[in-house]
Amino acid sequence: MENTARKKIIFSGIQPTGIMTLGNYLGAIKNWTLLQEEYHCCYSIVNQHAITVRQDPKALRENTLAAYALILACGIDPEKSIAFIQSHVSAHAELSWALSCYTQFGELSRMTQFKDKSAKHPENVNAGLFTYPVLMAADILLYQADLVPVGIDQKQHLELARNIAQRFNGIYGNVFTVPDGYIPKAAAKVMSLQDPTKKMSKSDDNPKSFIGILDQPSTIIKKFKSAVTDSETCVCYREGKDGINNLMSIYSAVTGKDYDAIAAEFEGKGYGDFKVAVGEAVVEELRPIRERYEQLMQDKAYLESCYRAGAEKASSIAGRTLEKVYKKIGFLPK
Ligand code: TYM
Repeated sequence: MENTARKKIIFSGIQPTGIMTLGNYLGAIKNWTLLQEEYHCCYSIVNQHAITVRQDPKALRENTLAAYALILACGIDPEKSIAFIQSHVSAHAELSWALSCYTQFGELSRMTQFKDKSAKHPENVNAGLFTYPVLMAADILLYQADLVPVGIDQKQHLELARNIAQRFNGIYGNVFTVPDGYIPKAAAKVMSLQDPTKKMSKSDDNPKSFIGILDQPSTIIKKFKSAVTDSETCVCYREGKDGINNLMSIYSAVTGKDYDAIAAEFEGKGYGDFKVAVGEAVVEELRPIRERYEQLMQDKAYLESCYRAGAEKASSIAGRTLEKVYKKIGFLPK
C-alpha cells in the first residue's frame, strides 16, 4: 500500500543578537541540521523578537546577516530547508496580532523569561517583551509545524504556543497543528563555564563563561581549562557535580558517547585531562563551521539570493495559514 503519511514539518528560530554560543549550537542548531534530512524544515532568524531589547540598527542589520550565514555554515542547506529572515515575511506580525486576542494576560505574566528579562532591563519593560511568546506562537503555527527543535529554556513558550493553538482550534475547528517540542537528550541546557548553575548565555558579562561558535581554537581551549568544576577527581555524572555534568553533556553531545563511556574513558585521569579533551572535541566540531562562515561572509550576493528565495517560499506557506485564520475569525476578504 502506498505510504500516504505526511512528512512532518519542523519550525525553529534564533535571535540575531550577537555571538552565537555553543549552547545555541548544541541545544538547537545541531538538531536543525540533522532534522532537515528527514523533514520539511523552516528556520528563521527572528529579528522581530530581537527588538524587544533595544538594538543598535546597524549592528542588528549586521548581526542578522551574520546569523543567517552562520546557520548555513552550521549545515542548514537552503535547497533542502526554508531559511529566511522573520521580518521579510509579514504574516508573522499579522498572525501575532490575531493570536494576541486569544492569549490571556495571566498566561503571559507567568512566563519566566519575561520576569527575568524585565528584571534585567527595568528601564525598558516594553509591551513587546510581554507579548513576545505570542509572536513565537505565530512563528510556529503559521507553518503548521509538528516539531520545534529548541533548548529547554524555550519549553514554557512552546507550551503556551500549544495552548493557544488548542484554544483557537477549540473555537474554530482544526486550524492549527499542535506542535511538540524536540529537545536534545544531551546539552538541552548548556551551562555557564564559570557558574554551572546558570545557563550559558551570550549576554553574560564574563566572556569566559561562554564559548562563541566563532571563537578561535586557542580561546576555546583556554576557556575550557578555566571551567569551574569541584574539589573531587571523579569524572562521573552525579547530582551536585554541576560543572562536571555540564562538561560531560557537552562532550557527549559532540562525540555521541554516553555518560558511562565517558566515565570509563577518564577513569583514573584528572579533571585537567578531561577539560582539555572536551576543549579539543569542541574545537574540531566548530572548526569547519568557522571556515565555512568566513567563506560565506565573502559572498553577500549568494546570502542575499538565499534569504530572498527563503522568504518567498515561507511567505507562500505562511500566507495560506493566515488567510485561513482571517476567514475563520470573520475578516472580510480583500
Ligand atoms: P534564542 O535565540 O535565545 O536561542 C536559540 C536556540 O538556542 C537554544 N539555547 C540553548 N540551548 C541549550 N543551552 C543553552 N545554554 C542555550 N541557549 C540558547 C534556545 O533554546 C533556542 O532553541 N524565543 C527563541 C527564538 C524563537 C523561536 C521561535 C524558537 C522565536 N520564535 C519559534 C523556536 C520556534 C529564542 O529567544 O531563542
